[in-house]
Amino acid sequence: MKGAFITIEGIDGSGKDTLAARIKEYLESKGIEVVLTREPGDAFDGKVRDILMHNRPLPLSEMFLFMADRHEHVERVIRPALEAGKWVISVRFADSSMAYQGARGVDRDLIERLNMEAIGDVFPQLTILLDLPASEAMNRIKGRGNAVEHFEREEFLSKVRGLYLEDAAAHGNRIIVVDATISPDEIFRSVKPYLDKLIDEVAPTEMDISRAEIADAIIRAIDRGMHAFLVYGPWGCGHKHMIRKVIYTLVPSAKDVEDEPYGIYSPDVMVVYGEKPSSIKIDMVRAIGDFLDYRPIEAKYKVVVIDDASFMTLQASNALLKILEEPPEWGIFMLYTSYPERVLSTIRSRCAGVRLDRFSTKQLAVYIEERFSVSREEAETLARLSEGCPDRVEHILQVLDAESILDYIKEDFYKYVPVGQSLVEDNVMWDKLFLEVESLFLQGLMEGKQHITPDDVLMLVEWEGMLKANVQKKLIADLIYWRLKEGIERAHIS
Ligand code: TMP
Repeated sequence: MKGAFITIEGIDGSGKDTLAARIKEYLESKGIEVVLTREPGDAFDGKVRDILMHNRPLPLSEMFLFMADRHEHVERVIRPALEAGKWVISVRFADSSMAYQGARGVDRDLIERLNMEAIGDVFPQLTILLDLPASEAMNRIKGRGNAVEHFEREEFLSKVRGLYLEDAAAHGNRIIVVDATISPDEIFRSVKPYLDKLIDEVAPTEMDISRAEIADAIIRAIDRGMHAFLVYGPWGCGHKHMIRKVIYTLVPSAKDVEDEPYGIYSPDVMVVYGEKPSSIKIDMVRAIGDFLDYRPIEAKYKVVVIDDASFMTLQASNALLKILEEPPEWGIFMLYTSYPERVLSTIRSRCAGVRLDRFSTKQLAVYIEERFSVSREEAETLARLSEGCPDRVEHILQVLDAESILDYIKEDFYKYVPVGQSLVEDNVMWDKLFLEVESLFLQGLMEGKQHITPDDVLMLVEWEGMLKANVQKKLIADLIYWRLKEGIERAHIS
């Protein structure tokens, strides 16, 4: 796998090194190996910088020096790292010459041509330009010892800034401009989405559905004495996999079993599972109290899982609160909900919140392709349709399985819908109904159509006009078509 190349640019004092360190830390937290480097660099034992500082070369000579330094840097450091699958962050690169040597009066076309010779095909995918007024830069760099003096004048830096911005406008899809007067935290926050996008594009690394990093963090928190967690995330985000990992770590003797919501059995584990609002009642929570009355049998801890915690009645919630107020030393609570705002605030405040984000669709596609043995194309569509939530995939496939559609509708349609509840006005419910609505489309298809084409499907989906995002209509139509083509069409035609 090839790595990715990020460069950070900006006039002196704009905070490039601080940002580079933050980006490195972030990428490493995602399991990416990072090489942080800079220009002018260590080529020729760092003599280029020495010459710049002490000899004041003429503009053209200066440019050649930077080019020589850059060529060595690319071939000896950057390219080998990228080929080894590492990511490279370079503080300053080709754009520095365009701006600085351009500001010293060198012809910018010439700089561009020489840059291309020096770097070959090693282009940055992302360049972050930290933009700062020259006057502010001057304030910041006053008193720094190692700088190149002739660059450190306000008028000159102002010219450099202008050229940087010009280049950023011309290469808008590679260079992003970030206001460098805001705090380092804010700067990082505004850069992060671009990093995430790049990660998505470049590194569809193996998807760990059990999210070991989060499970580990929970275990460490438990070691520090925390005992209650409210795990939350969009419906289908795959929370069970993560919670199972936590349970197996705390209760290693737990066994895999079928027909249990979490697929786990141990006398030290209790799962309270509700399928619709208000389905977790007070007696179920009282049973948790009884369960926790006795010490664990096989492990150091007893684990109580409540899923979905927002499905507790008010009485059940209050009963749980009592238990959470004075839990036994062995009691660990893993609450899960798709609707954190519906969990009693007093319960929420007694739990450490653990948010589960959606997986990137790239990663999820790789997972789906393997797990469900579908084509890459179909996997990517499924990944997008399930919006990064792995547990929706199975659901979607189930809905789209022609034979089970009618049964499925009968069984499931009302599962989440207490009678009388408005379907469309309640956004949260709508989310859950989303897939059920799809199955109604399918029913329409089955009853009304003989020959199905992707366009027919798209029309039906549009006609229904109930789906949330435009982009999804085509996806849904394609999926339905692929899945049903064989099954339904044949059944109707024959
Ligand atoms: P630094 O102090 O940011 O390490 O960089 C030394 C100076 O070199 C800085 O003022 C910008 C300048 N420079 C150029 O003029 N052209 C270039 O191509 C590079 C990489 C740096």
